[in-house]
Amino acid sequence: MLLIRQECAGDAEVIAALHAVAHTDTDIRVPALVGELRKGSAWIPQLSLVAVENDDIVGHVLGTRSSVGGRDLPAIALAPLGVRPDRRGRGIGYALCSAAIATADAAGESLLGICGPAEFCARAGFVPAADYRIDWSGPAELYVRALNAYQPAFRGEFHYAAEFGAPVPQQPVG
Ligand SMILES: CC(C)(COP(=O)(O)OP(=O)(O)OC[C@H]1O[C@@H](n2cnc3c(N)ncnc32)[C@H](O)[C@@H]1OP(=O)(O)O)[C@@H](O)C(=O)NCCC(=O)NCCS
Repeated sequence: MLLIRQECAGDAEVIAALHAVAHTDTDIRVPALVGELRKGSAWIPQLSLVAVENDDIVGHVLGTRSSVGGRDLPAIALAPLGVRPDRRGRGIGYALCSAAIATADAAGESLLGICGPAEFCARAGFVPAADYRIDWSGPAELYVRALNAYQPAFRGEFHYAAEFGAPVPQQPVG
């Protein structure tokens, strides 16, 4: 049975190991990035979610404080998202994303952004950022999902937390 739950004390090492094997196609050191984010102000404990199967952590998604426009419109960046290679294609990534969306929506957040595979993002209900007049200067396409608190005035440039580096991640860090 698959369980999605919030990260708890003692999970950090397993989460780092998971991202080390999940993200082999990016120059970004994803485990170190998660460690930096965990120490910073962008960290939102309720949005560090793990997928657990038979007592094993098989996936993780992190939602961190980001912003839109002149940094005064709070948004959430979903990154990284990773599923253990031997457990892919069974709905775990989708379940993690859905749980993060529901948690962010219940917390009154307005908008989520994610850089990831187009088909996966579409399946999780994300659309190209331009559809919402959200500007993005990164090389990987940004997809967004508006939540219940979204207002049409919510537009401008999407900014990841500073830990992701300036100006933007060079590749999807999902
Ligand atoms: C992307 C990733 C998280 C997907 O996890 P997963 O558990 O295999 O995904 P799911 O099984 O929940 O797939 C959900 C849907 O997205 C599609 N999908 C999943 N991975 C995909 C990929 N890499 N490219 C295109 N489509 C993909 C699936 O076909 C599925 O669609 P379906 O339900 O219509 O069959 C996983 O492949 C991964 O960890 N990749 C490496 C890190 C990464 O690229 N992260 C992406 C950030 S969004």
